[in-house]
Amino acid sequence: MDRPPSRRDLLRYFTALFGGLGLGGAVYPFIRALEPPRDILRAGVMEVDIKDLKEGEVKTVLWRGQPVFILRRTEEMIEKTMRIDPSTLKDPATPAERALRQDIFVSIGICTHLGCIPRFKPEGVEGTDQPGFYCPCHGGKYDSLGRRLDGPPPENLHLLPYRFVDTWRLIIGEETFGGYNENIRVITRLPGMKG
Ligand code: FES
Repeated sequence: MDRPPSRRDLLRYFTALFGGLGLGGAVYPFIRALEPPRDILRAGVMEVDIKDLKEGEVKTVLWRGQPVFILRRTEEMIEKTMRIDPSTLKDPATPAERALRQDIFVSIGICTHLGCIPRFKPEGVEGTDQPGFYCPCHGGKYDSLGRRLDGPPPENLHLLPYRFVDTWRLIIGEETFGGYNENIRVITRLPGMKG
């Protein structure tokens, strides 16, 4: 039969309990200090308002030290990119793999050849039948979904994590992401997105 706890047993029990709590209380601030502060965790996250962005215009924002293109595509741009057979591209990708919404294209604004910043060519990229982006450094050409059409770039413009909060506001960079070097070229490879 169990004996009732003695005063000594109770004393030992409470000493252990409060000792543990005291240690936890002392250690907690150190553990907190090792965690990155919330504002730093959120530093790579941006909300972008695009309600003033007109059809056929591109807005460039700086995100984690890199330019990000947000292009509001016209019907004509959408229709022209639909005409391209993805299998003919050096870096094949369908329109659905390049944009969450076909009227809005979002990408890192850095040429995948040697890192220049391409220029937006709404009137058409020279030597192609597509509006899009032209890199003046060595003649890299991209369509309005940032798909490489011609020139030395080995890949399409890289994508980044983003989502729409509502029709004209989007959040970029919410997922863990290394940026340009992550080599992200189609939507299904974006972190946190189901393919
Ligand atoms: S850096 Fe763009 S084509 Fe070379």
